[in-house]
Amino acid sequence: MGELGLNKIFGALLATALGLMALMQLPGLVFGGAGGGHGEAHGEEMTLSQTMCSQFHHCVDIAEAASAGAVAEAVFDLGAALASADTARGERIFAGQCSTCHTITPGGANGTGPNLNNIVMANKAHMEGFNYSGPMANAEGQWSYENLDAWLKSPAGYMKGTSMSFAGLKKDADRANVIAYLAANTVNAAPFPAPLAAAEAVEGETVPAEGEVVPAEGEAVPAEGEAAPAEGETAPAEAPAEEVVPT
Ligand code: HEC
Repeated sequence: MGELGLNKIFGALLATALGLMALMQLPGLVFGGAGGGHGEAHGEEMTLSQTMCSQFHHCVDIAEAASAGAVAEAVFDLGAALASADTARGERIFAGQCSTCHTITPGGANGTGPNLNNIVMANKAHMEGFNYSGPMANAEGQWSYENLDAWLKSPAGYMKGTSMSFAGLKKDADRANVIAYLAANTVNAAPFPAPLAAAEAVEGETVPAEGEVVPAEGEAVPAEGEAAPAEGETAPAEAPAEEVVPT
């Protein structure tokens, strides 16, 4: 019987506990219904959908940017910069920032860095006998204008582990001027890349293709024509037009 008594007490405690829990939850439910907790839930839903929306818009923005010439705003137009580059300024920058490690004259000696004569479109690690870092020695490809630009903007960023301890030329114009100077010291340097405007013009040829897609929107326009059926009631002549839509 003593055990039963304990059970009763335990049961009573349990009931109390449950009751308390219910009481504690009730306000939440009540207030929730009144806008408190529930409102918060809504708030979360809002932010969630807003986030999704914003993300979606973001994606759309990116997609539009990718399809449109908007990329030009984000991407440095190396071609345009080189087209208007100042070789004399490039020479001065080279003298001030590169010549401590590099010579550029034909047959110039290697210093801390290799001689840079004929560097444009040369293979990476172009100087035989220079003690290049492992990453540079194993690097594939040539020093195209684009590669040089990326390299000079941030050597370590472009090539992890490079031994060229140079922070980089952060100013677009500085890099363009120096690269123009490198090109001036390269026999038969490759032509500069085309400015993006020209590249866009080429893309423009594909844009008409998008124009061809616009007719697809034209199909949507007849959908508006479907809204017109209201007018169609007065003007049955539009009904045939509707029938044309499916075809
Ligand atoms: C502190 C010395 C130092 C300075 C300053 C420096 N470089 Fe270098 N540069 C090097 C070294 C060292 C290498 C070889 C890097 C490697 O092996 O990873 C190199 C490599 C290069 C290469 C690749 C050469 C090849 O044969 O592939 C180019 C191009 C270059 N530097 C351009 C420049 C320009 C332009 C500047 C000035 C804006 C400059 N460097 C400033 C030390 C320097």
